[in-house]
Amino acid sequence: MSSSERQDPSDEAGQKRRLVIAASLSLALVAVAVVVIGAVSGGAAAGSTADGASGSATSATPRPAPAAAPPPAGVDTFDRAAHSLDEPNSIWVVVNKLRPMNPQDFEPDDLVEVDVPHTWDPMLRQEAADAVVAMFQAASDEADLTLASNSAFRSYESQEEIYDGDDLLTARPGFSEHQTGLVMDIGADSGDCSLDACFADTPEGIWLRDNAWRFGFILRYPADKTDVTGYEFEPWHYRYVGVPLATEMHENGITTLEEFFGLPAAPEYE
Ligand code: DAL
Ligand code: ZN
Repeated sequence: MSSSERQDPSDEAGQKRRLVIAASLSLALVAVAVVVIGAVSGGAAAGSTADGASGSATSATPRPAPAAAPPPAGVDTFDRAAHSLDEPNSIWVVVNKLRPMNPQDFEPDDLVEVDVPHTWDPMLRQEAADAVVAMFQAASDEADLTLASNSAFRSYESQEEIYDGDDLLTARPGFSEHQTGLVMDIGADSGDCSLDACFADTPEGIWLRDNAWRFGFILRYPADKTDVTGYEFEPWHYRYVGVPLATEMHENGITTLEEFFGLPAAPEYE
C-alpha cells in the first residue's frame, strides 16, 4: 500500500507546510551561495573594479597588514651617526695627527677625579671616570688584578711638558686625545712594565686587552696599526668611546676609529 493511497484531506495542511519549509531552505541555500561566490570573486575583482561597487559586507573583510620585515641576517644596523666625530665634547671625537683638538685649548667641563690607584692624580670626564672605576673593580673581582692609572686628562699645557719630540711616541700639544678627558694610560699597580710594550704580556695587560670593550674602552694604538694611527703600539693607552661602539668594534674585529668610521689614515702631521 502506497502512502498516496492513504492520503486524506487532513494531510494537505502538512504538505503545504513541507512545501513552505522546502522553499525556505532553497532560499537559504541560494543566499549562502551568493555570499560564498561574492567572497571568492570579491578578492579577485578587487584589483579590477575601479570603485568597489560590489558594496557587499564580504568585500570589506579586513585582512591582516603585513608585518614589518626584520632586517636580513647579517645587515649592520649600528648607527654610525649617533655621535659627532668632530665635536670635542663628543665621546666619539676622533683626534689624530690630521684631526687636532678644536679649539686647540679645549678642556672638558665635567672633569672629575678618578678614585683608583695611580701615580699621577687622574682626572677624566664623568662618564669615562665611572667606566674606569667599574672596569678596575671587575679586574679585581674577576681576575684578582689591581690596575693603576699612570696618566689621564692632560691639558694643552701638560702636553707641552710631555711632548718629547718623537712623533711616534707622544702627540704634539693640541693633538693628544688625552686632552679629551676620555683616555687613561693604565698599568699594573705593581708598576711592572709600566708604559712599556712588555705591559701587553702581563696579566693586567692581557685582561685589559680582552675585557676593556665591555666597559666602553678601546686599545687606541694597536701593534699592527702604526700606519693608521701614527703611533707605535701602546698597550696601556685606553680610550673611552662608550659600550655600544666598543662592542661593535670588538664584534667586527675593527681596531681603529679611523678604519671604523672610514676616516683617512693619519701616519704623519700635515
Ligand atoms: N702617547 C699618546 C700618543 C699621546 O701623547 O697622546
Ligand atoms: Zn696615553
